[in-house]
Amino acid sequence: MNKFPKNFLWGAACASYQCEGAWDEDGKGPNIWDDFCHMGGHVKNQDNGDIACDCYHRVQEDVALMKQCGLQAYRFSVSWARIFPNGDGIVNPLGFIYYDELVDSLLKNGIQPMITLYHWDLPSALQDRGGWLNRDITRAFARYAEVVAQHFKGRVHTYMTLNEPQCIAQLGYGVGVHAPGLVLDEEKVAQVFHVLCLAHSAGMRAIKAVDPTATVGVVTCGRQCYPQTDTPQNRESAYQETFNLSSPGWQFTSNIFLDSLILRKYDETAPETVRRFAHTIDPSDWDMMETPDFIGINIYNGEMVDAEGRYVKPHPGAPVTACKWKVTPEVMHYCTLHIYRRYGIPVYITENGLSCNDKVYLDGAVHDAERIDFLHRYLLELQKGIAEGAPVLGYLHWSLFDNFEWAEGYDERFGMIYVDYKDGRRILKDSVKWYRNVIESNGDSL
Ligand code: NOJ
Repeated sequence: MNKFPKNFLWGAACASYQCEGAWDEDGKGPNIWDDFCHMGGHVKNQDNGDIACDCYHRVQEDVALMKQCGLQAYRFSVSWARIFPNGDGIVNPLGFIYYDELVDSLLKNGIQPMITLYHWDLPSALQDRGGWLNRDITRAFARYAEVVAQHFKGRVHTYMTLNEPQCIAQLGYGVGVHAPGLVLDEEKVAQVFHVLCLAHSAGMRAIKAVDPTATVGVVTCGRQCYPQTDTPQNRESAYQETFNLSSPGWQFTSNIFLDSLILRKYDETAPETVRRFAHTIDPSDWDMMETPDFIGINIYNGEMVDAEGRYVKPHPGAPVTACKWKVTPEVMHYCTLHIYRRYGIPVYITENGLSCNDKVYLDGAVHDAERIDFLHRYLLELQKGIAEGAPVLGYLHWSLFDNFEWAEGYDERFGMIYVDYKDGRRILKDSVKWYRNVIESNGDSL
């Protein structure tokens, strides 16, 4: 029996601000991450995405590397401010130059392009008008989605509207560690979530109007629990706790976004502030919600819980990544089952990976045994969820390249391709050679 379904899609992902560079070229307007970095004081080492991996100028080289890695799909995001320098209004005639070259080159090499429309780099002009707090943004987002979908009609078939609404809302508007750096109360954060739901929906309608055959998803993250031991009762506790909004950190649950979008209601476990906000919602808003064709799950680790749903602390010395995130492969088994059980639609793993203390060895190679072991364990667990019936359409590793890791700057290396930031040189790490075999054998090599 095959471990992964026949048409399972294997690939990798990256995002515009994190890898493109060329921050002010070809008519691009400023975005909130340009501003946040240039302002100083928000990002480690005062790093910024001005040059990043310089992907903007290295399309042919990069796609040749992807081909060499055996990728079947590449998930990338479009920088809204390249297409609409002011967020809205007039389309920049040069805005698609880079994406055209990228998409055409991917297609020529048999790699499927998958577009994320919004991976956090909002045009500054829209932020000046309130950003995701102002529901007028949904119209601008729909226009942007329409223009992109029209442009790529016949070439791109899979879109993701928003990446991780949880980070947009909480990190950007709640605690301010991401652009636009606002520190607002919980009700305002709830409002951002609601506007994001409306924006996803308007964007999805706009894409479908232009290209009814397009597949449109949304990418989520958030708490995922898994059982300490695999019994039916423990599984149930893990499921309940995964979606329990009354536990600390409701902002980092999948359901705070996906329940409104798909189930069109807030869970009864929602905290008081969220319920207060929910009362202010015009009932007609619920009719405007669009169920995505798939849910993208970004998953890095999870929380182990016991039979009562209590969190079990990792044992001392339990494995962690370079940025000290827990290594919990088991979460891969359950997260797809949880999301499918609650929402009943197919999923992609749109991100999964880790940062390692990678370096170039004396032999000129990058030996990232830790990444291989991580990936191996996580993929074996993913397979268990699939075997139990989770409809998982594909796996996209985060990330293809080392890149700009937001507030952590360039300190964290998440890539399967090493980037030397001194000169932009790329080196395939051991992990991507290993991953190539996994892809070629559709996971049978695991
Ligand atoms: C989620 C985000 O989508 C991505 O931009 C980020 O680099 C990775 N997680 C790693 O933190």
